[in-house]
Amino acid sequence: MKRGERYAVLTRSLRHRPRDVAWLAAWSAVEALPALVSGWAIAEAISHFLAGRTAGAFGWLSLLALAALAGACGTRQATVRLGALVEPLRDELVGRIVAGALASSMGTAKPPDTDAVARMTHQAEIVRDSFASVLSVARRFVFTAGSTLIGLFTLVPSVFPYVIPPLAASVLILRLLLRPFAARQRRLVIGEELVANSAAKAVSGLRDVTACGAEDLVLAGLSDRITEQAEAVRSVARVGSARVLCIAAGGWLPLLLVLAATPSMVRHGIAPARIIGAIAYISGSLRGALSTLSQGVGAGLVRLLVTLDRILEASTMPTTPAVDSVSVHRPGTHGGQDVGGNLRLRGVTFGYGRYAEPIIRDLSIDIASGTHLAIVGPSGIGKSSLACLVAGMLEPTAGEILLDGVPIARYPARSLPQKRVLIPQEAYVFAGTLAENIQYLRDADQPADWEVDAAADAVGLGPLVSRLGGYQAIINPVGLSAGERQLIALTRAYLSRAPVAILDEATCHLDAAAEQRAEAAFARRPGTLIVVAHRISSALRAERILVLDGNQAQAGEHESLLAGSAMYRELVGYWMAASRPDTAPAPASAPAR
Ligand SMILES: Nc1ncnc2c1ncn2[C@@H]1O[C@H](COP(=O)(O)OP(=O)(O)OP(=O)(O)O)[C@@H](O)[C@H]1O
Ligand SMILES: [Mg+2]
Repeated sequence: MKRGERYAVLTRSLRHRPRDVAWLAAWSAVEALPALVSGWAIAEAISHFLAGRTAGAFGWLSLLALAALAGACGTRQATVRLGALVEPLRDELVGRIVAGALASSMGTAKPPDTDAVARMTHQAEIVRDSFASVLSVARRFVFTAGSTLIGLFTLVPSVFPYVIPPLAASVLILRLLLRPFAARQRRLVIGEELVANSAAKAVSGLRDVTACGAEDLVLAGLSDRITEQAEAVRSVARVGSARVLCIAAGGWLPLLLVLAATPSMVRHGIAPARIIGAIAYISGSLRGALSTLSQGVGAGLVRLLVTLDRILEASTMPTTPAVDSVSVHRPGTHGGQDVGGNLRLRGVTFGYGRYAEPIIRDLSIDIASGTHLAIVGPSGIGKSSLACLVAGMLEPTAGEILLDGVPIARYPARSLPQKRVLIPQEAYVFAGTLAENIQYLRDADQPADWEVDAAADAVGLGPLVSRLGGYQAIINPVGLSAGERQLIALTRAYLSRAPVAILDEATCHLDAAAEQRAEAAFARRPGTLIVVAHRISSALRAERILVLDGNQAQAGEHESLLAGSAMYRELVGYWMAASRPDTAPAPASAPAR
């Protein structure tokens, strides 16, 4: 784990909020006032009592009470400032966790691992709490110990050699124990995750486990993990006790040394009241500060670092989604020849009927030959209408669509099939032979047998050809399934010479693997491919995605759209949920608006 990243994450909120840091320091100083005043107040009160000056004694005790009151206010205000410093850390971590899960599921086209997100979000809470507690303890230790030492050495400077060496040794040993403690704590946190994962897996597969009679096996696996975890807890406890011992020594040793040196100090003219004040400093504030340090910075710091490392490791976002190989740029040439298929939409507006509200408004986009573009959007938004506009089957109310520099409306209807092919959601298959069905867009230029075989193989029609008994089999469209009809229409489009292929949910009746095969075939075909996508995998295969969102449209790559288009995020979320096995199957495209 990159230490720098960990450090950067932890200090970011501190660096960005210097005012809060300054206020935290100021209120921490106020909080430490009782530590500063206590020894002096006790020493002076005793002196005044012994000298019969009761009012003076009460005055000092009142000062101590006031300091305690101010300290309480300091604690309250410091806690508020602390909250302002640690909350941004939690927000940043949760953001990273969710973005990481989304990005990794984007790459694999799998639904996001929401269980892992929930677990890690819980860990982000742990990091937030641990960070708050470490910050709080560290500042309390620094201010309390600092104030105590100032009070102590101004009251009785000669106690210095009895206090500093044991205190320094204790802090040093604590530091040395931090690494082994961290290693054990890390094992503990990872073990916790493993136990949770194994338990979740066992519970989710309970039916299968019972059906296979594998209860004992699963139980044995779980028991091993739990036993390992118990050992990890014990080993953390062992190092933890060594730390507590060290703290105790650091706190008690100065006290014993000062008590042992008391007769000599008294002989050297130090007032007993001052020695009592010094003892109050050591036994009260100093030991308190040390034990707070051991409890907070010990377990808290280690838990903070270990948990933060786990989050940073797990939420590292892949820089590019693992889109499969068909997403490569498609050829705009064939055998070195430009096949054409350059599309330009200029301010295209379209509505059904003169007075109807436009479905598409002022849309401009260039789709160069060789581009694989996916069109996405909620149901009824106008994807099919746009596909028909691009295919020249509908005319824009305003604006123009150029195909290879010529307005598509200018192409004679007869020649359009040579320029573009559109496969709608409900594929059209006519009664006749299979060969007639798949070759009829090559009327004037009959394909060779090998070409037909290659097309059928590429698109995935082979099994149907075998089932029907060859290309000369007479087909009855009603006797075919919707998916089989789509395969026939796809093979027909694949065989056509049109440089622009438009697939309007043309694979919606195929399963994901068959869809990928068909789209892969079209991706290898020279020219422009426009796919109205109805699955996330289909959109991910495209190099550009056009999101239709009411009267707005936005084109871009998957990641930039995820960041910049709320509609695209919504669609992706919908597709993800729909592709989960525990939810209903996805409808053809996406939710209606
Ligand atoms: N021939 C038509 N006459 C009038 N309105 C139409 C016609 N065809 C479609 N519409 C309307 O135009 C809007 C856009 O329809 P379109 O079929 O283009 O949407 P879509 O995004 O393809 O939807 P889906 O995802 O359901 O296929 C819808 O409100 C639809 O009802
Ligand atoms: Mg449609």
